[in-house]
Amino acid sequence: MTTHYFTASSLDGYIATTDHSLDWLTSQDFAWDGPMSPTTFVDGIGAIAMGATTYEWILANDDGWAYETPAWVFTHRDLPTPDGADVRFTSSPVPDVHAEMTAAAGGNDLWIVGGGDLAGQFADAGLLDEVWIQYAPVTLGDGAPLLPRPLTLELLDTQRNRALVCTRFRVVT
Ligand SMILES: NC(=O)c1ccc[n+]([C@@H]2O[C@H](COP(=O)([O-])OP(=O)(O)OC[C@H]3O[C@@H](n4cnc5c(N)ncnc54)[C@H](OP(=O)(O)O)[C@@H]3O)[C@@H](O)[C@H]2O)c1
Repeated sequence: MTTHYFTASSLDGYIATTDHSLDWLTSQDFAWDGPMSPTTFVDGIGAIAMGATTYEWILANDDGWAYETPAWVFTHRDLPTPDGADVRFTSSPVPDVHAEMTAAAGGNDLWIVGGGDLAGQFADAGLLDEVWIQYAPVTLGDGAPLLPRPLTLELLDTQRNRALVCTRFRVVT
């Protein structure tokens, strides 16, 4: 069982603008059935986790709740649940949540959707194994950070998906 952080990033290491826009990403040429796409990646995933800002962005912008696996949303607030979604709100310690996710995932992998600090909290606990970054050809100058931790990574794979450079790393330390 592997715990992944899979996200898209600007070249200068931001996953959203300061006002949480992803227009710089959604405007990119990208093949959803192409190399290293989220559609392929999600096949091996049994449980996901995300922070409250990412969850609120999905509720406000996506066309319905697309995730079929149980989802843990880290928050200190009461947030709505979309119809039919298996969403579990939590502010428990990351190792406890990771154990709950592992138990629910049925031997499949775990996906930390974002944001970057939440992925960093899993890394702090020694519970982040791989980082997948889809780099878009833009710089943002400021915004939500990709992974604000000092980590050493090993490059496992890289492929081009139209406008994006898709990378996969193993967390070393
Ligand atoms: N480029 C991409 O592919 C991609 C992928 C994912 C996300 N995003 C975007 O990136 C941005 C990320 O936003 P963000 O940096 O604010 O991160 P976030 O992780 O989405 O949200 C941070 C919030 O999560 C809650 N939280 C985090 N850790 C917690 C903990 N241990 N216990 C309880 N609650 C905790 C807190 O919310 P409260 O205390 O307020 O409840 C915190 O303010 C969003 O705009 C999102 O849409 C982009």
